[in-house]
Amino acid sequence: MSFWFLLLLPVLHCLSNIPPFQILTWIFYACRLYCKGRVLGHKRAKRNSRPNQSLLQIEGVTSKEDAQFYLGKRVAYVYKAKREIQGSKIRVIWGRVARPHGSSGVVKSKFRSNLPPHAFGASVRVMLYPSNI
Ligand SMILES: *[C@@H]1O[C@H](CO)[C@@H](O)[C@H](O)[C@H]1NC(C)=O
Repeated sequence: MSFWFLLLLPVLHCLSNIPPFQILTWIFYACRLYCKGRVLGHKRAKRNSRPNQSLLQIEGVTSKEDAQFYLGKRVAYVYKAKREIQGSKIRVIWGRVARPHGSSGVVKSKFRSNLPPHAFGASVRVMLYPSNI
């Protein structure tokens, strides 16, 4: 993350008299390149579960048609662990949105390694790339 844009704040403020916090809010929204999603669980039937596919609910997506937009997008599950690996306790599991699940906007996704059960209920970042616009 780079903070070069902080240098622009005083300039913009002087030029346009827009309060700096307003500008910061815009930058925050412009820089947020992902939507939030929630892990519902693994794909499953009554008795079996298929841990290699996970169900995600993406914020603001309530129909199969809305979910179409997200197919193929990258998903990151970011979490903190106790032990450091390469100097960082933050770990990421990457995945992709695969297909809709039912008609309520829930999607199925595949992760590089299966999501652990402690991810159920946690939030994930649904990236807005690769883009197909
Ligand atoms: C996913 O897991 C299920 C159950 O463990 C297995 O039957 C299926 O072959 C797996 N699919 C892939 C693509 O690995």
